[in-house]
Amino acid sequence: MSELTDAVRERYAAKALQMAPGGVTGSLGLACDLTDGQRAQRQAEWRAVDAAALLTRAERSGTVISTYRAGPATRAELTRLVAAERVCCGTANWALHDDGAELRVTVDAASGACCEDDCCGATYSAEELASVGIDATASLGCGNPTLLAELRAGETVLDLGSGAGLDVLLSARRVGPAGHAYGVDMTDEMLAVARANQSRAGVSNATFLKGTIEALPLPAASVDVIISNCVINLAADKRAVLREANRVLKPGGRLAVADMVALAELPAEVKRSLDQWAGCIAGTIPADEYVSALRAAGFTGIDVEVTREVRLDGVAGAIASAYIRATKEPTKPA
Ligand SMILES: C[S@@+](CC[C@H](N)C(=O)[O-])C[C@H]1O[C@@H](n2cnc3c(N)ncnc32)[C@H](O)[C@@H]1O
Repeated sequence: MSELTDAVRERYAAKALQMAPGGVTGSLGLACDLTDGQRAQRQAEWRAVDAAALLTRAERSGTVISTYRAGPATRAELTRLVAAERVCCGTANWALHDDGAELRVTVDAASGACCEDDCCGATYSAEELASVGIDATASLGCGNPTLLAELRAGETVLDLGSGAGLDVLLSARRVGPAGHAYGVDMTDEMLAVARANQSRAGVSNATFLKGTIEALPLPAASVDVIISNCVINLAADKRAVLREANRVLKPGGRLAVADMVALAELPAEVKRSLDQWAGCIAGTIPADEYVSALRAAGFTGIDVEVTREVRLDGVAGAIASAYIRATKEPTKPA
């Protein structure tokens, strides 16, 4: 179980470094204004990673795409180098894309979506994004749970696995100054990106907490609405997550989640793959299993709506994004 959690943490720590607006990469200790010696050193580092793992390099429409064989050492080194280049070359849009088996480094003059090779499918209006000053590349989600949740002024909202913080910040705007939005995430690098986004957005009624969604750092019956976007599929123990969600919700509280579900059985080797797990594929469960886990956790009014089948290149089986709604039983009068 901890192997799965470690794979998920490693994947999203690397994603966070790609998404960071410069600040997080400062911990790598690499400066922009390189001396000649430092530049030579950087070039030697690129040559070394090329020699060890480069598969192809091509240029298409002004974008140079380098494809590397994936492995823990290559992933770590490319994450470090791309983060360093992003600090120096803000307009070149350096990015690292993790396909599981292969890693692609792209450098170009026009930005692409960070989530393009994950479980993307999130839908945010330009007005919503403008309200928090963040673009859609801050989303690694598969829907827009803030619309699903029908948030009201004054409510307390909790986002399970808040990533770069987009859904938390949008929720904070919707519930207004009398309400509050919390995000819980286990990855320090993601929390750092979320807090940087919060400070840029100037949102004060939001708090990002470090923790796991299997053991939430909030008291019982403290939250009106739980949202989540493409995270519960990543949890090894989904029943524990849903029990915790039920515990922290107030009686009558709502759960409104976007997640990936399995439509047709995936091959055993895909289910076993840590990369496919961290990529929101291998950890998916069928909708009826989701429903029974929600029921066992104490939810009623359960509804699972499959919204979009996701094409899996070269993999048999099928998964889809879905919207999942449920309610915690209100307290019965004595
Ligand atoms: C696919 S990303 C989605 C992020 C965000 N919800 C969004 O829509 O952009 C998954 C996020 O959940 C976090 N995460 C995954 N499993 C977790 C767990 N068991 N406990 C806490 N956070 C978790 C990861 O660190 C990552 O930030």
